[in-house]
Formats: sequence, structure tokens, C-alpha cells
Amino acid sequence: MNKTLDYIFPNPPKGLDPAALDPRAIPEHVAVIMDGNGRWAKKRALNRLKGHKAGIEAVRETIRCASDLGVRYLTIYSFSTENWKRPQEEVVGLMDLFAKTMLAEVNGLHEENVRVRTIGDLSALPAETREAFEEAWLKTRDNTRMTLVVAVNYGSRQEILHAAEACVRRALATAAEGGDPTAPLTEAEFAQGLYTADIPDPEVVIRTSGEMRLSNYLLWQVAYSEFVATDVLWPDFDRYELLRCLLEFQSRDRRFGAVK
Ligand code: IPE
Ligand code: IPE
Ligand code: MG
Repeated sequence: MNKTLDYIFPNPPKGLDPAALDPRAIPEHVAVIMDGNGRWAKKRALNRLKGHKAGIEAVRETIRCASDLGVRYLTIYSFSTENWKRPQEEVVGLMDLFAKTMLAEVNGLHEENVRVRTIGDLSALPAETREAFEEAWLKTRDNTRMTLVVAVNYGSRQEILHAAEACVRRALATAAEGGDPTAPLTEAEFAQGLYTADIPDPEVVIRTSGEMRLSNYLLWQVAYSEFVATDVLWPDFDRYELLRCLLEFQSRDRRFGAVK
């Protein structure tokens, strides 16, 4: 942990004790499904895009708090391969918001020693959005404190198909060199073809807005992750809600199929 719990959580609400968090058991990788922006806006009779904009502050706070706690990887689900089905206006607005936010935040993230990278198919994004992510990656690639992984145009099934295709290509190359293309494949070899090849699996997946599904998120990687759901809508998520989720995570008995 980089800062003390008192510093990270200065004004805990009644009944929430930051000291209950075990600093030695902070997950290395936290994956978040940021959900509920639309409902947050609807409750206030606002356009859905206003909900997405309000969600940016929650992202900022989550990044800061996670990196203060010593989380090494924070993956945020920002746009799924299925989200293209949304109204054109919302998709365009989201792409614009990603580009603007990335440009506005990259210097601050760099100062915080945060490395930014993406998972997903960037080739389908508008040029401005793709370039904003690429520039953020270029600028921050040597940073070491925490890696912020933005899942954008990300779909787990698509990712798994790509990994399978990579395996087929490797087998064909092996055969061409006179080797045995039917040699058994290991999980580690297969995972090399995923976007997350060099990222450890998340110990915990947090989903906001009360939904209890994965929505095509990191299906391979979350095989043994703890799933933590909170009813809080994403724009209302803050460090104290993150603390609650991590306390819930730390209360779980992780057995990995064995007997304890
Ligand atoms: C999550 O909020 C953000 C994205 C998927 C981009 P939603 O937009 O899904 O919000 P709800 O689920 O409609 O409330
Ligand atoms: C999942 O949320 C995708 C992101 C958070 C980017 P959705 O709101 O798109 O998921 P569903 O449609 O409720 O499953
Ligand atoms: Mg949603």
C-alpha cells in the first residue's frame, strides 16, 4: 500500500471502518463493470450521455483510490462489442467522451505514474478516439505504479476466437517446419493469444447497478475471480463503495476447487 488507510479514507460514513481492510490482502488486479450510468441519468430526467459524463468522476476517484491501495491492475469495462447496438447518438457521444476524457486526463495519469493500456478491437473506433488511447499508451507505457486497462470495443468471445485463431496459425507454422501440429496445448499457451497475455487474472470483478451478469467480460480470465455486486449506480461509486467491495472480497473463502 502506498498511503495509510486514514489518508485514503479520511471521512468514512458511519459503520464503515477502513481499518478493517487488510493491507496485505489487496487484490493485485481489480476488474470493474461500470454499469448504471443510464439509470442514474433517467432518475434525474437527464439524457443518458449526462450519466456517462457523471461517471467520469467515479472513474477518476476509483483510479486514485486503487493506486493508493497498491492495486497493480485496474481494468474498467468502458464499451463492449455489444454496445454498438445502442442508439447512434449515444455511441457517437460515448466515443467523443472517451477521446476528450483521455486527452484531458493523460497528463494527470502520467504524473501519478499510471500506465494506460487498452484491451479490445481499437481498429473499429473513430480515428480521434483510437488516437487518444494510442497516445495515452505511448506517453505512459513506462509507468510503474498501476496499470489502467481500458476495455473498449471489448468482447470476451471475440477475444477467445482470436486466441483460437492464433493457436491454429501456430500449429500450421509448426507443421510447415516439419513439427507435430497436434501437440497438446497448455492453458498458458492459449492465454498468450488473449489481449491480457501479460496481465494476471483479476482476483475480483466488481459490478455496479445491481446486475448479476458478466456481459461478455473477461470470460476466460475470471474463471476463479470473486464476483462482487453493488446496487450503487456507477456515477455514485466512490472510494467508500470501493472499500465496501474490497471488504466483501476479503471476507470470501477462496478455495479454487480444493478443500480447506
Ligand atoms: C454503463 O452504463 C456504461 C456503458 C455501458 C458504456 P449503462 O449505459 O449501461 O447504464 P444503464 O445500464 O443503462 O443504467
Ligand atoms: C456492460 O454493461 C458493458 C459495459 C459496462 C461497458 P451493459 O449495460 O452494456 O450490459 P448489459 O446490456 O446490461 O448486459
Ligand atoms: Mg447497463
